[in-house]
Amino acid sequence: MKGLWRCAVLAMCLVISFASGTTAAPEGRKVIIDTDPGADDAMAILLALNSPELDVKALTVVAGNVVVEQGLENALKLVSLAGRCDVLVASGASHPLVQQLVTAEFFHGANGLGNVELPAPACRADTSFAPDLIIKLVHQYPNKITLVPVGPLTNLALALRKDPSIVPLVKEVVLMGGAISGGNATAAAEANIYNDPEAARVVFEAGWPLTMVGLNVTGKTVFTRADLNRLARTQGRENDFAVGVLNFMVDLASKLGGNGTPMHDPLAVGAVIDRSLITTQDMWVEVETRGEFTRGETVASRHNSSDRKVWRDGRYVIDGVEKVNPNVHVAVESDGKRLIELFISRIAGK
Ligand code: RIB
Ligand code: CA
Repeated sequence: MKGLWRCAVLAMCLVISFASGTTAAPEGRKVIIDTDPGADDAMAILLALNSPELDVKALTVVAGNVVVEQGLENALKLVSLAGRCDVLVASGASHPLVQQLVTAEFFHGANGLGNVELPAPACRADTSFAPDLIIKLVHQYPNKITLVPVGPLTNLALALRKDPSIVPLVKEVVLMGGAISGGNATAAAEANIYNDPEAARVVFEAGWPLTMVGLNVTGKTVFTRADLNRLARTQGRENDFAVGVLNFMVDLASKLGGNGTPMHDPLAVGAVIDRSLITTQDMWVEVETRGEFTRGETVASRHNSSDRKVWRDGRYVIDGVEKVNPNVHVAVESDGKRLIELFISRIAGK
């Protein structure tokens, strides 16, 4: 009986998907979103699933905001809500490479979705381990896949270590993480990097095309109570869910003294949809893994050079500068208001 029920629900999802026109856009840019859903992750995922510019091939789940089991359930509920069982969903790393897991239910709700309940998922998980699914899809679509990590970078690091040949086959990595003007998890470190600095170091040193969408630009994408009231004027399954989650986030931001909630992860997805939402500067960026106060900091060299020192007359003497090749396109500006408009235009009424 249960199997019959699942088939009926799945059929309904497929009908809704076809009717609402939210099926994959085969000509869209192929993306894999690596995520720790997560309230803002959920908004980013809905934005991606409702944007014809993107062909979302998979959601790969990593422990971060919530434990990986909860993240997998949330990811399956999100693709089911959008009627997108065509999107592969796989579970990944349950803890960072080295340190202990730090979860953030305080910021994302006990269930990771702003305590908004969704029906049991109609879509089923892919049985692959997430890093293996990343490897498989990158080889299946050489030079076509854009990786969009919006959580700790553990899955990407594991995929890279298992199969370094994926590096030249990935079109681009556009990640939400890092910062060049102070952190949020600590004074120096942004949460996604802070939650697995060793994994971040592997990703930043890989040599693939890497764009960093950090706090210095996501901080300009504040979703306010007025934005929420606008979105609440329309209805729909995804629309209403987003209103519920964003209400939790805006309420919490208000309690913490803010005038709205930053749309961290949606900006990374937005930048893949429309690159003009961000402006980047090429920089040499290293990930601190040892600092007592700075572990997890993304240390960016804005001028891509360092002093060259020689030992002379009993001291070091600077006799020039060493150029360093930049490894990251660092987002230094963002159009936060246009990101909010893009998000509302894609979710309103869905
Ligand atoms: O620092 C913000 C990031 O940490 C976002 O990805 C949010 O979801 C949390 O994971
Ligand atoms: Ca996230």
